[in-house]
Amino acid sequence: MPNKSRKILLLPGDGIGPEVVREVKKILEWFNKNKSLDFKFDEELIGGASIDKNKIPITDEVFYKSLESDAVILGACGGPKWDNLEFSKKPERALLKLRKELKLFANLRPAICFKQLVDSSTLKPEIVSGLDIMIVRELTGGIYFGEPRGIQPIKDNQRKGINTHTYTTNEIHRIARVAFDLAKKRNNKVTSCEKSNVMEAGVLWREEVQALKDKEFKNIQLNHMLADNCAMQLLRNPKQFDVILADNLFGDMLSDEAAMLTGSLGLLPSASLGEKGKDGKTRSLYEPVHGSAPDITGKNIANPIATILSLSMALKYSLDLDKEADLIDSAVQIVLDEGLRTKDIMSPGKKEISTTDMGDAIISKLK
Ligand code: IPM
Ligand code: MG
Repeated sequence: MPNKSRKILLLPGDGIGPEVVREVKKILEWFNKNKSLDFKFDEELIGGASIDKNKIPITDEVFYKSLESDAVILGACGGPKWDNLEFSKKPERALLKLRKELKLFANLRPAICFKQLVDSSTLKPEIVSGLDIMIVRELTGGIYFGEPRGIQPIKDNQRKGINTHTYTTNEIHRIARVAFDLAKKRNNKVTSCEKSNVMEAGVLWREEVQALKDKEFKNIQLNHMLADNCAMQLLRNPKQFDVILADNLFGDMLSDEAAMLTGSLGLLPSASLGEKGKDGKTRSLYEPVHGSAPDITGKNIANPIATILSLSMALKYSLDLDKEADLIDSAVQIVLDEGLRTKDIMSPGKKEISTTDMGDAIISKLK
C-alpha cells in the first residue's frame, strides 16, 4: 500500500536534535513529492525545549500524539542548560517516559562498519572492516526503572543514593525472544551479557535466556558472557559477535562502545519497539544513538546519517516500506562512496560538508 497515509511524529528535542531531524523532514517531503507517498508529519517539543516552553519535559498532548502515530522519530534530549534541574524534571525523563509508557521494551542498535569508513574508526582496519553487529538492549526494565530509588538522608549528615536492578522471567524471555528471532535472520548466534558473577539478577538472566533457547530456539548458538568481558572483547575481536543481548544498563554502555567501532557515534541508528497493543498496533520510536552533543550544537556540522538511518529503520520496521528504506540506505552508501563526509568522519583526501549539505547529498541520490 504505497500511498496510504502514514502518521509520523517528529520530536527534534535538544542540542543537535533539531539539526539532524530537519534532514529527515526533508527526506519525508521528498518522498511525498516524488514517490507519491503520503507521510503526514507533525513536529512537537520534547526534553529541554519542552521544559523551556511548558515547564515539563513532555506534555500530555505530545505524549498522546506519540501514541497515535505510526512511528515517532526523536532527535535528542538533554543538555547542560538543564543539568541542575531536579531529577524528575530533567529533559531525559521525557524519553524514559515514552519508552516506559509506550512499552518499548526492545531496543535494536545495529553497529555496522561501512567499508568507506574503515579508516574513521580508532581501531585497526582489520579489526573492524566488515563488522556487522546487532545489539538488542532491554529498554523498560532493570536499574533504569527499578524501585525503590532515590536519594535519602542518613545519619551523620550523610546521604544514600539508591537504585534497584530487577528483572522477571517474563521480561527476560520477552527480550531474549527478540534477540533469537533476529539471530535467525542473521548468523544464528547470540551472546547474552550479564554480571552473573556478582548479581542475582544476572544469574536469573543467564538461566532464563538459556531456558528459552533450550525450549524454543534449539538451532541458535548461544554464548553467555560477563558484561565486562564483552566490553573488552568488543575492542579485542568485535567480529566474533552477531547478536549481543543485554539488559538496559549494560546495553546502554555496550552500544556506545560498539558505535565507536563503526567510526563515529554519528552513524548509529536505533529502533525501540513495543508489544502489539490492544489496537493491533506495535508502538515504535526511532532515534540516533548519539545524544544532544552540546559541544557542536548550532554549528551545522553534526552528522545526520544516524537519524536518517533511523528513518530507514522506521520505514522497514513500522511503516511497511522496505523498498523506500533500501533506497535511503543505498543513497547513504553512494554519498560515502563519493567521499563526502561530515566533520566527525572526515579523513584526508575526502570532502568535508555540513549537516544540511549531507542531507541534500543523500536526497540527491534517492532518485
Ligand atoms: C541512550 C541514552 C539514554 C539512555 C539517555 C539519554 C537517557 O544514553 O539512549 O543510550 O541512557 O538510555
Ligand atoms: Mg546511551
